Amino acid sequence: MYRRHFLTALGGASLAWPRAVAALADRLAGGGAADDEPFWDEVRTHFLIPDDRIYLNNGTLGPSPRVVLDAVMEHQERVAATFPPGVAWDDVKRAVSDIVGGDPDGFVFPRNTTEAMTFAANGIDLLPGDDIVTTDHEHIGGIEPWKAAAQKHRATITVASLPAPAPDRDALLDAVWGAVRADTRAVVVSHMTFTTGTVLPIRALSDRCSSAGILLVVDGAHPPGMLSLDVDEIGGEMYASSPHKWMLAPQGTGLLYLSPAWRERLHPTLASGGWDDLSLGAHRLNHMGTIDESRPVGLLAAADYLAAIGMERIEARVRYLRGYLEEGLRSIDGLSVVTPDAEEMKGGLVSFSIDGVESSALQRHLSRAARVRTRVIAEYEYGWMRLSTHIYNSPAQIDRAVELIGEAARNGIPAE
Ligand SMILES: Cc1ncc(COP(=O)(O)O)c(C=O)c1O
Repeated sequence: MYRRHFLTALGGASLAWPRAVAALADRLAGGGAADDEPFWDEVRTHFLIPDDRIYLNNGTLGPSPRVVLDAVMEHQERVAATFPPGVAWDDVKRAVSDIVGGDPDGFVFPRNTTEAMTFAANGIDLLPGDDIVTTDHEHIGGIEPWKAAAQKHRATITVASLPAPAPDRDALLDAVWGAVRADTRAVVVSHMTFTTGTVLPIRALSDRCSSAGILLVVDGAHPPGMLSLDVDEIGGEMYASSPHKWMLAPQGTGLLYLSPAWRERLHPTLASGGWDDLSLGAHRLNHMGTIDESRPVGLLAAADYLAAIGMERIEARVRYLRGYLEEGLRSIDGLSVVTPDAEEMKGGLVSFSIDGVESSALQRHLSRAARVRTRVIAEYEYGWMRLSTHIYNSPAQIDRAVELIGEAARNGIPAE
């Protein structure tokens, strides 16, 4: 739901970017079905990606639209010229909560998922002998902070092996829960894996963890800005994310959402004045010294930009494009998709391998032949190729990528 709450709260008339977002919202008020190409063609004009590039790697970093970059620059110029009084945190929290749900009071704003996970792992008071259950589909940014904390506190890590492609949610739940033991202190898993784009059954896992007194910490680097969601409904005590991915916020904008109890309990990794004032709740953890304020301002602009289009429209378009891409990929002989079949178990990512074709060679070929940007999942030696679809992509771009991938599967990769 698009709201204009920021216009007054940010001093309205003196800022250009809120009016620019409002103008976009007005232009985009009608249409916007998942296959409404004229509508999405217009959305594509909000981005700086040149026409001769096909960016299919939003899973690594989302390109900010022009209006977000303008908000960042406008704030930096104001700081340099007139030293305005800080960030309107309440506006940032409300705008973020409009996109990811949750209570605005529960948000902390680190620089990325890695930092959010570091705050979580360092803040929970791990004890020697505690065990942390995780999976073999976690990103370094989600799990290394836990490995470092475990080493420091002489805790252990247990890695559950997930099926890929996962046949159903129960198989995922059983795999994670099967690794839980009497000494399990925390379960740390992705909401959506970066490897295959698989959605884990976090709600069911959260119910089991709560009844066993185990902390559930979720690496939510991907779903915010990709899927309509509500962090409260998802479950878990802490949810870490990187709005510079699917929320299209500027680089270096992170999120950590805390359940009510942890807003008072989490020990700060970065402490400044007020860190021990529990009446501040989660906000005491936002006291981090001097920060680049243009990041939360850019995050606010990005959240308002997404709201102007509408998360339901965005999710439908992301899924439509991924479905179109996946259909093309699945029609290629020798290509195996490792992302689950069921729509509710995936979103805007699809991963695959091709018999006899190395993904890194395919990646170089796609980049050379048509400036297609992709991501190879070399982690855990999987060797898959991952593609992402977001609102600035088009069916024509996907046709071109699928055509090149199909040729490579049939004829091999031409010599460099
Ligand atoms: C699932 C997951 N977690 C964590 C990260 C790390 O994100 P950041 O570099 O923003 O900390 C990524 C980055 O790709 C990711 O995909």
